Amino acid sequence: MIPSLAHGPAESLHSGIREIANEAIRRPGTIRLDVGQPDFPTPQHVKDAGKRAIDENKTFYTHTQGLLSLREKLVDKLARVNGIKTTPEAIACGPGGVGAIAAMFAAVLEQGDEVLLPDPGWPNYRMMLPWLGTRGIFYPCPPEYGFQPDLESLARLISPRTKILVVNSPNNPTGAVYPEATVAAMIDLAQSHNLWLLSDECYDQIVFDGSWTSPAKLAPDDDRIVTAFTFSKTYAMTGWRLGYIAGSVDLIDTATKVLESNSSCVSTITQVAAEAALTGPQDCVGEMVSAYRRRRDLVVDILKDAELLISEPTGAFYIMADVSLRGLPAREFSFALLREQGVSAAPGTAFGEVASEAVRISLASSEADLREGVGRLARFVHGST
Ligand SMILES: Cc1ncc(COP(=O)(O)O)c(C=O)c1O
Repeated sequence: MIPSLAHGPAESLHSGIREIANEAIRRPGTIRLDVGQPDFPTPQHVKDAGKRAIDENKTFYTHTQGLLSLREKLVDKLARVNGIKTTPEAIACGPGGVGAIAAMFAAVLEQGDEVLLPDPGWPNYRMMLPWLGTRGIFYPCPPEYGFQPDLESLARLISPRTKILVVNSPNNPTGAVYPEATVAAMIDLAQSHNLWLLSDECYDQIVFDGSWTSPAKLAPDDDRIVTAFTFSKTYAMTGWRLGYIAGSVDLIDTATKVLESNSSCVSTITQVAAEAALTGPQDCVGEMVSAYRRRRDLVVDILKDAELLISEPTGAFYIMADVSLRGLPAREFSFALLREQGVSAAPGTAFGEVASEAVRISLASSEADLREGVGRLARFVHGST
């Protein structure tokens, strides 16, 4: 007999996105609409900076929180893009937004605590919690509300064990961006129940219409607010692994101890390349966002014609399609679509219960793939193929 595994991680489910993606990988020729990463290459000037970093021997450990020169540039970016005033001491870099968020969770959670998570929501949040002996409580952002949070239900879910309220706008998987009044109401809830508020703004620069509001901009003096960002989406740098959190100096210092223990620092080469991303031309960001907007418009038209549109996304690069007509739960629907039509889309069930009759289409796919793949999906829902 071998020693036992930890109950939490051993019994938690794998990500439902990876489950369908792994199956799609085994089927060459599949139209991949399941992927949650930009289909663009990293901009050339960023790649060049990474190559130079190697040649110039910038290959040693850095400060655990990240190079001071990078954090100084992040201070400028946060002021310019997010309206957040901060200092280099109040920023910690981690291995992707995911690593930075996990460090924040570990810095504040104790056994038995509860974390309020959006449903539908990014599955990694719930997967991080069992390591810490904690659990997610899911607040609905239902299709009939255009995937906006149902604030009354959210308030009712708060208990003496609640420790963090997670807000994710622009949202994965729905593309919903929350209006300022909603963000303000969520801050009020966090303040009146003394909760940490983690605002995951990993899609902060991928917004199509209007603008989004950062909780940290609305309540600049509230030390309960922690904001997470990434280079993965804005600069098509998913494989470089760099994200960061900004919060109070005390919170960041504690999260830094977590990062120190499990990653020491983010790859120095990546950090140098990230500085080039921040200081170099920003047209690449605008061009990628314009492409996602065009693709969003294309898919909205196809889904509208097929009467499968739930709501128009205004940020991130995803759109949900209503597949209820086919009469299959989303997971079965996604596998049937893959087997029978050669199209892979993430089932709504991967993101919780509220979108269990929908699938997520990623706009990080070419227009040709979206036209063909979403067309096949629509015909499949209507049983015409
Ligand atoms: C909502 C959300 N937050 C955070 C992340 C983290 O991304 P990364 O770890 O690549 O920075 C992702 C990635 O898909 C995401 O969708």
